[in-house]
Amino acid sequence: MDGRDLVRSVSVVGAGRAVRGLRTVRAAWRRRRIDAAGLPRRGAERARVPGQVAGVEPGPGGGVIRFGRSELRITVAVNGPVFWGWDGAGPEPSYALAGRCPEPDPRAVLEPDKDGGWRVVAERVTVVVSRHGAVEVCTPGGVMLRRDLPPRWWEPVGGGTARWMQRSEVTADARFFGLGGRASGPRLREGAYRLWNTDPGRAFGPGTDPLYLTMPVQLVVADAGTHLVFHDTTWDGTVVLREGEEGAGSGHDRAGRCEVRMDGGPLRCWVMVGTPARVLHTWASLTGAPALPPAWALGHHHARWGFGSEQEVRRIVAGYQERDLPLDAVHLDIDHYDEHQVFTVDQERFPKLPVLAEELRRDGVRLVSIVDPAVKAAPGNAVYGSGSARDAFVRDASGREVRGVAWAGESVFPDFTHARVREWWGGLYAERLDQGFAGFWHDMNEPTSFNAFGEPTLPRSARHDLEGRGGDHREAHNVYALCMARAGYEGLRELSPEERPFLFSRSGWAGMQRYGGTWSGDVATGWPGLRASLSLVLGLGLCGVPYSGPDVGGFDGSPSPELYLRWFQLGAYLPLFRTHASLRAGRREPWEFGAEVLEHARVALRERQRLRPYWMTLAHLARRTGAPYVRPLWWGAPEDRALRDCEDTFLLGDGLLVAPVLDPGADRRAVQLPRGRWYDTVTEEAFEGPAQVLVDAPLSRIPVFARAGAVIPVRGADGSPELEVWAPARGRTGGGLVVPDAGDGWDEPETERYVARRQGREVVVTREREDGSGEPPYPVRVRGLG
Ligand code: NOJ
Repeated sequence: MDGRDLVRSVSVVGAGRAVRGLRTVRAAWRRRRIDAAGLPRRGAERARVPGQVAGVEPGPGGGVIRFGRSELRITVAVNGPVFWGWDGAGPEPSYALAGRCPEPDPRAVLEPDKDGGWRVVAERVTVVVSRHGAVEVCTPGGVMLRRDLPPRWWEPVGGGTARWMQRSEVTADARFFGLGGRASGPRLREGAYRLWNTDPGRAFGPGTDPLYLTMPVQLVVADAGTHLVFHDTTWDGTVVLREGEEGAGSGHDRAGRCEVRMDGGPLRCWVMVGTPARVLHTWASLTGAPALPPAWALGHHHARWGFGSEQEVRRIVAGYQERDLPLDAVHLDIDHYDEHQVFTVDQERFPKLPVLAEELRRDGVRLVSIVDPAVKAAPGNAVYGSGSARDAFVRDASGREVRGVAWAGESVFPDFTHARVREWWGGLYAERLDQGFAGFWHDMNEPTSFNAFGEPTLPRSARHDLEGRGGDHREAHNVYALCMARAGYEGLRELSPEERPFLFSRSGWAGMQRYGGTWSGDVATGWPGLRASLSLVLGLGLCGVPYSGPDVGGFDGSPSPELYLRWFQLGAYLPLFRTHASLRAGRREPWEFGAEVLEHARVALRERQRLRPYWMTLAHLARRTGAPYVRPLWWGAPEDRALRDCEDTFLLGDGLLVAPVLDPGADRRAVQLPRGRWYDTVTEEAFEGPAQVLVDAPLSRIPVFARAGAVIPVRGADGSPELEVWAPARGRTGGGLVVPDAGDGWDEPETERYVARRQGREVVVTREREDGSGEPPYPVRVRGLG
């Protein structure tokens, strides 16, 4: 590139920016014009802070502290989560909570603190409130984890919803995680993170923010402890984070900072403190146990936008079978709909879908259907007809149906915040079940409308029922997909009560794990996209959504054989293991990338199948304890700073450590190991942690390690369960949990506990029961004895 080229390219980039800038301005203007009639004008605003303490009113689990210009209600609930709400905000109603708010802990009482402040002392946390309304969260030993400065509100002088801002400080060593699905994590560095579920409208990379699934949930890990804070407000907002810095002997520590700004909604939050496992357990008790996927959903899924016909689906499934590649599910995208209309089938290209579904099911392959919320607003459309008859669609302030643009053209959007609408929608899945579908893939549910309203969703002035309270899209937007997931899940439970529903949804909010999982949307094909897909799975797991995964190979374009293979190898260790791509992208079948890739992909697929009993166990444990299947390296040792900063390696349950290859051309990689002995699962070589080791990562595999002592349920050569036991170090014991597969119904199998003991050159494994220990009911295979 010579000087002139540089100037030319700079001016092209500049012109591109200018055009984009102009478009943004036009879009904002269009949005304001649409909302002008439906939303109150903000006009002048008055700022407010709480003022000084004026009195207290003790109550169960805490009480109310009155300030000059606000009041703060604090309640410690049983099992440890602490709630506080300003300006009279209580914990209910809430879209995040799984049921009623938990009972207050009667042992927690409000007591005077120094300098005119107050505090609540509970078993796991002490909350100290200063006389100006700063709130400190401390460990029982009194070490500060988080300090919220007094909040600030801006209220329209003429009345209406107040905006608010909450600044907080955390310790200098703290690291932030969470905020839903973020492509630039899992560690959230300095930056502004928007809380507004958004379809970016193009394949995304690490720099794209926000994405489809945001949540005001932060997990903060520091030497002093881990805490999760959840600002229970569904409105549009932004979280600005800045990690702190330690003076390291040559200066003062600089605290980490967090600023939450919300356009409206209550200023209320939940905080939970403890180890990462304890925090996620408390979070799941509050917002709901993750839905348990059926066993087949833990296998390999293949999707494509554009199968185009039943024959093509058969051809692809046969391609898997002929090449001896395990396959568990095939996903049909919108091209199987009749003119892109949800809950219909193109009868020309898919004339006998139930027959196809039955044939596939006999071969152990389930069919999964995409479900989009938009309904074509056309008189002959049966879904539109039945929805209109029930007044199911979102209306504007003047009472007209809001008409956006989706795949099927001009469309309307069900108001899922209305119980009656959810019931109607849930009933529509009967048609899908009759077609033979076994699972559901909710898409475009931010909701996305192709830019008819100045931004790619519904206008903010659109009206919603909000469970009878009434409100507009500013409040309903972020929970639209959560409510759609609820509609689908409850409908399926009703229609097919014997089977656990399987659904996953592109968008969602806090608590969505009750209904299913998610996937990482349209990730850009490229090495940065590969990295982003791991970031999303880890971050979502820490927000309580344990089941997710990327489109292996990326959504757009054509990955190189190497990139495809590395993505495939990573995907094989993520909960949702799915290959998928856009209509316009290259193929994603494993045989499309040459013989070498095919051979290595087969190895990854077979290993996934071999580990199926482990995946089932992890799914059950996620449901029982809230622990994600895929965990950051620091999960068991949050005080280890080197682990806190490691983002390219993860734990799969307690037993395995996976080190994917995320860079091109690599055939070795450095791996950070936590404390203890770790075995390379292929060579059985032992490594002692904590350490950073350099290991081989040939194209044929990514490095996977087993923790010494781990007891891992696997499928034996004949397909029946076996225990793979990795020798504990001398003088040590190990163990593991197993939850056996009990079918796709609602049976709750018992958690089996195993202990592995080293006795000289031998390893003895016993099953521990309340009435004593005994022989395991499965064959045991010991590895790593050298
Ligand atoms: C967007 C989804 O993210 C993608 O997975 C799907 O293929 C297209 N919509 C078409 O339905």
